[in-house]
Amino acid sequence: MGAWTLDDIPWHRFDPARVDRDLVPIAKAASLVEHNGASYAHHLCLIFADDPEFQETARRWGEEEVQHGRALARWAALADPDFDFDAAFARFRAGFQVNFDSDRSRRGSRSGEMVARCVVEIGTSSYYSALREAAAEPVLQEICRRIAADELRHYRLFYKQLDRCLAREGLGRIGRLRVAISRVAESEDDELAYAYHAANQPDRPYDRRQCSGAYARRALALYRPHHVERCIAMLLKAIGLTPNGRLGLIASSLAWQAMRYRAARLAKAAA
Ligand SMILES: [Fe+2]
Ligand SMILES: [Fe+2]
Repeated sequence: MGAWTLDDIPWHRFDPARVDRDLVPIAKAASLVEHNGASYAHHLCLIFADDPEFQETARRWGEEEVQHGRALARWAALADPDFDFDAAFARFRAGFQVNFDSDRSRRGSRSGEMVARCVVEIGTSSYYSALREAAAEPVLQEICRRIAADELRHYRLFYKQLDRCLAREGLGRIGRLRVAISRVAESEDDELAYAYHAANQPDRPYDRRQCSGAYARRALALYRPHHVERCIAMLLKAIGLTPNGRLGLIASSLAWQAMRYRAARLAKAAA
């Protein structure tokens, strides 16, 4: 179990007047992706079949991700009583399929798998921090505060495991950079777009481009420069580079400009 449960959330403080309607569709989509965490934990246990200590950590991690999904789903149902999480999750599972039964990492090595996991936790910790800061509704703020703290802890536990793996496998900085870039690029793939579709468009055919744009437009609008700076510092650390030097400043500035450019294009397209 995680450090908190759904009973720790002050649901009675939910204030419908303070719900930002643009945040509801992305909270629903996030609830589906998070709730899929148990399947990924199963995959990690297969990859680390000879490491019972890490398997235990991975199972606990998976339970925490599922709880994130439950908390977001409950909030989304308060914000939109028509939201049927079970039906949406069934649509998501039916339409977005990954082979979680494989004992081989798609990243080519255990170290690569841990770099990819670090990238995901960097992304989620910054995303929920940005969502908390953007949200005016007090219950969503509290959920995001707790989730963001969990995601940061998840980053640390995968980073620790990465260190252990590197001692045996010796994946160099270039190899780690390659995995990190490919995982960042995957954030544009089907998972989030399909989750957005499954959560918000039960009566429409899936249009990946439209869903990806609709999700990204709402998500990118949440970020501020300090979120990006933190992301880049954590990313550089996972790759094995100095997190707070000149490289970090340049990479943060470039990433921020790229995000602004994309956000502006998506906003213009939606106008
Ligand atoms: Fe999570
Ligand atoms: Fe996480």
